[in-house]
Amino acid sequence: MIEKLGTVFKQFEKEISLLTNKADILNLKAKYIGKKGEVSEVLQGLKDLILEERQKVGPVANEIKDKIQNIIQDKLNKAEIEEINDGLKQNRVDVTRVESAFVNNHEHGGLHPITLIQQEVENIFLSMGFEVLDGPHIENEHNNFIALNIPADHPARDMQDTFWFHSPSGDVEKKALLRTHTSCVQIRGMKERRPPFRFIAPGKVFRCERTDASHEMVFHQTEGMLVGENISVTNLIYFMKVLLSEIFKKDVEVRLRPGFFPFVEPGFELDIKCLICGGTGCSVCKQVGWVELLPCGMVHPSVLQMSGIDPAKYNGFAFGLGLDRLVMMRYGIDDIRHFHSGDLRFVSQFKSY
Ligand code: DAH
Repeated sequence: MIEKLGTVFKQFEKEISLLTNKADILNLKAKYIGKKGEVSEVLQGLKDLILEERQKVGPVANEIKDKIQNIIQDKLNKAEIEEINDGLKQNRVDVTRVESAFVNNHEHGGLHPITLIQQEVENIFLSMGFEVLDGPHIENEHNNFIALNIPADHPARDMQDTFWFHSPSGDVEKKALLRTHTSCVQIRGMKERRPPFRFIAPGKVFRCERTDASHEMVFHQTEGMLVGENISVTNLIYFMKVLLSEIFKKDVEVRLRPGFFPFVEPGFELDIKCLICGGTGCSVCKQVGWVELLPCGMVHPSVLQMSGIDPAKYNGFAFGLGLDRLVMMRYGIDDIRHFHSGDLRFVSQFKSY
């Protein structure tokens, strides 16, 4: 019987060496060690043997069964790995090809129109030697108001409804708020520099206002400041004209009107001739022919003084460009609320790749 088991095992080895397919291997398993398998039958027959024989044949039969079991398992593992590799070869995704299924079915993202205009403004000023500064959205009362010549009881505070944070102390350097304009970055910029210097500071600003077609609680400005010796209103107008003709890709006509801002003296409202109607009057310019676009002025001597710059020696100009208004003018957008609507039909019109 032991001899027979030996022959059966040899036969098994021969047969299994020819197989690679999972189903064939499982069939072979059934043939040898399945319920009615050749080896299993020997094991079942043990009970009919006399004790002595059983003790001899039993262990050999069990050993062969285990061996077969192990070889089969080994072979099955290999077949499985082979199967996975074959599948990978056939369904390979070439991620370097744009046409591949996943990439092709995806919408491309793009930059928000405000981000695009901000980048454009930054590039124009960088080319004119300005630095681009960044300031925090959460500011203190000193930088946002006091150092800009707006003390606590100043009526100009009413022009900018402010989101205040609860502050335990009355210290104006610690009293926190959401910045109402980017002018506060002037203070940060001046503290770290000595004249001459020129910088812009783009970013979000916040006001506690009721929203409508031309007002939002969150909007965007780019502050600009240039300080040196003998700076004049002519210099201010020159830079503003360059900026606007670069943005609108044509020469724009500008005019200055007096404007009141505590941190500049004199202060101006810079208007541009309406680009929609060319100055004859339309709904965008409210039939006036001019659109108010850029508040600006000559930096107030007290503002320089409070930041440690000698106003007897230095002067300069500052401006606050509203980015939302600029995009609206350029594309004829009639409602500021589109910008934060999250409506893809709106933002996808400005995609750039
Ligand atoms: N900070 C002003 C505002 O948000 C805008 C402004 C006006 C900025 C005049 C300036 C300026 O730098 O000179 O309403």
